[in-house]
Amino acid sequence: MNILLLGSGGREHALAWKLAQSRFIAEDGGALYACPGNPGIAQHAELVEFDVSDHAAVADFCSSKAIDFVVVGPEAPLVDGLADSLREHGIAVFGPSKAAAQLEGSKGFTKDLCERAGIPTAGYVRTTSLDQAEAALGRFEPPYVLKADGLAAGKGVVIAETRAEAEEALADMFGGAFGQAGAEVVIEEFMDGEEASYFAITDGATIVPFGGAQDHKRVGEGDTGPNTGGMGAYSPAPILTPQVRGEAIQRIIGPTVRALADAGTPYVGVLYAGLMLTAEGPKLVEYNCRFGDPECQVLMMRLESDLGEYLYACATSSLAALPPPKFSDDTALTVVMAAKGYPGTPEKGGLIDGIEAAEATGAKVFHAGTAMADGRLVASGGRVLNVTSRAHTVAEAQQKAYAAVDRLDFASGFCRRDIGWREIERSRGG
Ligand code: AMP
Ligand code: GLY
Repeated sequence: MNILLLGSGGREHALAWKLAQSRFIAEDGGALYACPGNPGIAQHAELVEFDVSDHAAVADFCSSKAIDFVVVGPEAPLVDGLADSLREHGIAVFGPSKAAAQLEGSKGFTKDLCERAGIPTAGYVRTTSLDQAEAALGRFEPPYVLKADGLAAGKGVVIAETRAEAEEALADMFGGAFGQAGAEVVIEEFMDGEEASYFAITDGATIVPFGGAQDHKRVGEGDTGPNTGGMGAYSPAPILTPQVRGEAIQRIIGPTVRALADAGTPYVGVLYAGLMLTAEGPKLVEYNCRFGDPECQVLMMRLESDLGEYLYACATSSLAALPPPKFSDDTALTVVMAAKGYPGTPEKGGLIDGIEAAEATGAKVFHAGTAMADGRLVASGGRVLNVTSRAHTVAEAQQKAYAAVDRLDFASGFCRRDIGWREIERSRGG
């Protein structure tokens, strides 16, 4: 079986690492290609280069290499309809159609679907002009939650403490701060609680839970400073108790998958539910139509089943035939090494050394924003490396991950030193 993986981050390195171990590649002589990939992914896949927004070019590549299925890592090509174009060419795809990817591509779409299906989430109003939005603010209490409707690279959400701040943020959004993504703004009720990420894979009919994790979105220790794409994660997240997971599937993910199937736009791929664990039970914060980054890295570190089989079964409507996937009971924890300046403008080109020494401790170092320059590994993005460990407890996994971090030689990099703190505090009875 020949597989094409699209993407270039730490999430895709973790997927490539696991796919390379799949029997499709490791035993059956299949080839794994990645576009555009990165130097870490190049250890497991043949890197190829084409323009992913040119759907015909992707389909041509797939025919020329007899690709059996395509795994799409990031959201943008999905929201852009790449999966539809490939399916029209008879190519199996792990990833939703343009219609189903609206779960991530349009916050208003998701809120309307939740309302129709009775899915627990924050109350909301969709607005399409500044006047309408300002008038709607009166229906909410502070803090005000304001969201640009479309894809905004994780930056389209503002939580405003006062009405004046909310009005200023609305003026920015309708003024074009997020381009087309801000042509519509969703105003939401604020939900109080702890957040966790829960994943399920589906072929549109069968739903298979695929693990949970907790991310660390703020750049600074103790969850301070600006939001980022994620500075570290661990899995499992004990806060996702069997009861919470059951409710998440029954009341949130299940009704969503059924609603999309009933609409004639079945969801194929991984559904990432951002949950708020409130006093009234889990509520949906948002959906993503892809694996989380860096959550994927910790899920892959625990996955003991053949990833290729599960992704292919989703792509070919045959998930019901597989047994539940096996995940290790161990905790996996990943620390993101970012380039100084992130989440603002990151320093590019910083030299990276010591990955072998870091991995000699037993950790796995996934590449996120790295590149080769004059034969040396350098930083080429905001989030650069994901130092990932596995151990019996969160505390041990944390210790192992930082022991590996300390062997890296990456002067222009930094990381948070407290990944896993909530769980460690809880395990101490704090
Ligand atoms: P989103 O992109 O929708 O996940 O929002 C980004 C972050 O904003 C979330 O991870 C939450 O921390 C926060 N957030 C979003 N919506 C709400 C809400 N209704 N109540 C409280 N916090 C929220
Ligand atoms: N780590 C958060 C995300 O992938 O959206």
